[in-house]
Amino acid sequence: MSDNNEAKKTYYISTPIYYPSDKLHIGHSYTTVAADCMARYKRLKGYDVMFLTGTDEHGLKIEKRAAAKGVTPQQYVDEIVAGIKDLWSIMDISYDKFIRTTDDYHVRGVQKIFKELYDRGEIYKGAYEGYYCTPCESFWTKTQLKEGGRCPDCGGETQLAKEECYFFRLSKYSQRLIDYYNEHPEFINPPARKNEMIANFLEKGLDDLCVSRSTFTWGIPVTFDEKHVVYVWVDALSNYITALGYGSDDTSLYDKFWPCDLHLVGKEIVRFHTIIWPAMLMALDLPLPKRVYGHGWLLLNGDKMSKSKGNVVDPVVLVDRYSSDAIRYFLLREVPFGSDGSFTPESLLNRINSDLANDLGNLVSRTVSMQLKYFGGSLPEAQNRLAAPLDDEIIDLFKGLKARVEEQFDELQFPLALAEIWKCVSRLNKYIDETAPWALAKTEEGIPRLAQVLYVLAEGIRIIGILLEPFMPNTPGRIFAQLGIAGNDAIISWQSAENWGLYPSSAVCVKGDPLFPRLDIEKELEALEAIKNAAAPKPAEPVKDNKQEGAKKDELPEGVITIDDFAKVSLKVAEVLTCERVEGSDKLLRLTVTNGEKEKQIVSGIAKFYAPEDLPGKKVILVDNLKPAKLKGIVSEGMLLAATCEGNLKLLTVDGDIPAGSSIS
Ligand code: ME8
Ligand code: MG
Repeated sequence: MSDNNEAKKTYYISTPIYYPSDKLHIGHSYTTVAADCMARYKRLKGYDVMFLTGTDEHGLKIEKRAAAKGVTPQQYVDEIVAGIKDLWSIMDISYDKFIRTTDDYHVRGVQKIFKELYDRGEIYKGAYEGYYCTPCESFWTKTQLKEGGRCPDCGGETQLAKEECYFFRLSKYSQRLIDYYNEHPEFINPPARKNEMIANFLEKGLDDLCVSRSTFTWGIPVTFDEKHVVYVWVDALSNYITALGYGSDDTSLYDKFWPCDLHLVGKEIVRFHTIIWPAMLMALDLPLPKRVYGHGWLLLNGDKMSKSKGNVVDPVVLVDRYSSDAIRYFLLREVPFGSDGSFTPESLLNRINSDLANDLGNLVSRTVSMQLKYFGGSLPEAQNRLAAPLDDEIIDLFKGLKARVEEQFDELQFPLALAEIWKCVSRLNKYIDETAPWALAKTEEGIPRLAQVLYVLAEGIRIIGILLEPFMPNTPGRIFAQLGIAGNDAIISWQSAENWGLYPSSAVCVKGDPLFPRLDIEKELEALEAIKNAAAPKPAEPVKDNKQEGAKKDELPEGVITIDDFAKVSLKVAEVLTCERVEGSDKLLRLTVTNGEKEKQIVSGIAKFYAPEDLPGKKVILVDNLKPAKLKGIVSEGMLLAATCEGNLKLLTVDGDIPAGSSIS
């Protein structure tokens, strides 16, 4: 946030524009909900906000998908995009603009940008030979490929392709980008991603980038060479300025909002946003975005949830069943922002029950019930309430809450902001136990104190309700209705959360439905499983060239697997961090290990062969993508490989020094 924009009070935030090759999943909801939360927060702070999202509709993959379905690419994307807009509507996504790369103004804008780059000598014609990954729309050099010629990003098959194409002189920008990063430490977040970009790409020197294709037609035609369409990343990245009217007659939005305050993206596309996009902007002599934040992935059974893998969770089902606010809360609370985190139905249901139904829901319903029961709905005036020293501790806690939440917002630490709020929720629940209002209600002398206790609760809940607004757009209104202050703008404004003592004695509270009904977890797990099975098995059909298809499984001799079968098992070198016996078992050890990216808990039946103190520091072999299982009630998130013979067992380890996280093939 530069001073410049602070003064103008504008805030421009974007999500990636998603590929409408399939329905979106909960991973896309994650980015979009986070961006929405930030946009709502900035609006509450008085900023003039531009929140942009949209769809990235061109490319070979969509062309093939449409052909397979017997529809035109446009028809294909129209249908999916309608579903995406419905999803954002049920998830209360308050975008200001939804851009589609098939929109006329975008097409014209990209054509102008491409021509401008060509005229400036930044784009030239050449020929390209490389390995192309269709799902990622990326060319790779041979040395970049993973074993088996696989795409380093998604692990899918690549195809050798040679074609005439236009190149962008990306190679000239390596040093300028390094300099820019160093002069703008805010530019890439979290900071580790900056080092990754420098070490993995910039220091090695960038190659010029292929920016047009002539082997498919579903793209934006290059105006001066109609054989070519603009290669997807130039098309896609330009959306951030064409959406503001760049390249059109009306550039008022561009003038107002560019440069962008924040591009929020998943970590796999940080490279495009911090190398290609800034280099394009440098080539056009335009200002660079202020900040790119690459958040982590939502994992399902240890693997990135992704359309091309088909291992997805449908947000529509979850929202229908548990409400948009509950799903938003989960997404923003569960995973430290910036890191990877697992999605499991259990973790979702537990969060809903413990944080929402128990902590928050019960606090509100107990408070409202007591206010109704003991005072008929309205609390006595201050002079008839009796304060106690205990109240001051609570009041202090609440007075600083808004500032603490805002501090976390500035770093996009949504989970920590919510944790601050929940500290206060818990403190109020504890306050109820400490003050025992039901006991105070028993005597006449207890009434003034009872009034004050209920006042502290109502006032604390008012502040909590306000601060929840960016995260959960529906719940605060329901809380305010129960407290009898709905529509009273002066005391439910964001600013007013900073002041203690605004809850009016004229407010009449009203009993409402429970905010979040308690879920029967076992039943819900069964129901979710049934829904999944009814919808499955439906992994997205892989799009590949027929000639590239390997031997079919059913043609293999029994017991023989293909390299693809083997590649399904993700084996990693892991380092043991801690180890202890599992109580009540003489077979099991509970270990924590790091797989290079994160810590995992492993329960392993090796207690007879290793003492717990033998293992920390050892490098072992972890099956990293095994479905988590419970052993003696403890979740095990993987399996360690071991050799056994005649009752003896030895863990497999590596021959020499290699870091945790190294993959094994
Ligand atoms: O990359 N966990 O589109 P895309 C967290 N069109 N976030 C996830 C996720 C997961 N498992 N899966 C997807 C594209 N996302 C390009 C972008 S931008 C100019 C062009 C989110 O449909 C995350 O934000 O593959 C990720 O970067 C994005 O969806 C990728 O969406
Ligand atoms: Mg992707």
